[in-house]
Amino acid sequence: MIEELKKHLEAVEAFQADTAEALEAFRIEYLGKKGHLSTFFAALKDIPKEEKKEFGQTVNTLKNAANAKWEALKAELESRTATEARYGDLTRPGAPMPVGSRHPISLVRDQIISIFSGIGFTVSEGPEIEDDWHNFTALNLPEYHPARDMQDTFFIQTDPDILLRTHTSSVQVRYMEQHKPPIRTISPGRVYRNEAISARSHCFFHQVEGLYIDKGVSFADLKQTLQYFTKALFGKSRIRLRPSYFPFTEPSAEVDVYWGLETETDYKITKGTGWLEIMGCGMVDPNVLENCGIDSKEYSGFAFGMGIDRIALLLYQIPDIRLLSENDVRFLKQFKNAL
Ligand code: DAH
Repeated sequence: MIEELKKHLEAVEAFQADTAEALEAFRIEYLGKKGHLSTFFAALKDIPKEEKKEFGQTVNTLKNAANAKWEALKAELESRTATEARYGDLTRPGAPMPVGSRHPISLVRDQIISIFSGIGFTVSEGPEIEDDWHNFTALNLPEYHPARDMQDTFFIQTDPDILLRTHTSSVQVRYMEQHKPPIRTISPGRVYRNEAISARSHCFFHQVEGLYIDKGVSFADLKQTLQYFTKALFGKSRIRLRPSYFPFTEPSAEVDVYWGLETETDYKITKGTGWLEIMGCGMVDPNVLENCGIDSKEYSGFAFGMGIDRIALLLYQIPDIRLLSENDVRFLKQFKNAL
């Protein structure tokens, strides 16, 4: 009998209840009118005299333990019920957090950065509010150049020297003023032009500028770099360099990548030629090097500049440039899985 009592004692001490029902069942089993304790107390009178004392003490211990357990679990369940009433079930799975998406401009910019980082280019930045020197004069842009036209440039009314930069080439100048060759840097950023907004053009957009200055840099280095880049970004390595003019490079070229003419879209975006213009480039004009404090007899280099928005429209087949700045979530959320 005493062994049985001790087993019950162990069971009572180990007991846990998750629900009010389980606790009530415990109460009935031990403390109820027909429960174990009643049975043991009733048995007391039949116990031989010499065992009575120990038996009685053990039944009392069991009674106290069962009462204490019941009180403790009851208090615990009540406080849990109160917490749940206030906060709900704290063990429930959390509400899913909506995952955001990266903007297509950021996606393309980061891809370009990663491609050029692979061949030793750093990333540099400059201000969007520029002065005449960095945006125009240092870049060999004479005063009569059309890029200076009031139609193209947003000037600050009270100070004709201050403007919103029209290209990221201004960062070239700042970088050369602050660093000695060898220089290998790309400068992504936003630029502004006073243009009518349409599906194809906006009054602000994004560019990446590239600059490479060292001893003995040649046009062949430029071409190889661009070929590596177009292969990495578009998976296409056939490029052509069309002679062009930029005041800050000599010679200058426009870069076309061979896109192909396989689908109807290919025809549309390449206007039936298969070729797509993606950037301007050239050998940095010696005047520009000298303007920035670099000896043009010792050093040469190349530069290039491309529009990020146009590339994003192309890669993600976005039909209207305005979508890039309207922040419509129905548009943005489509880039959740984009790389
Ligand atoms: N700054 C030019 C533009 O905005 C792009 C460009 C052309 C940048 C040739 C260059 C370059 O560095 O060499 O259209």
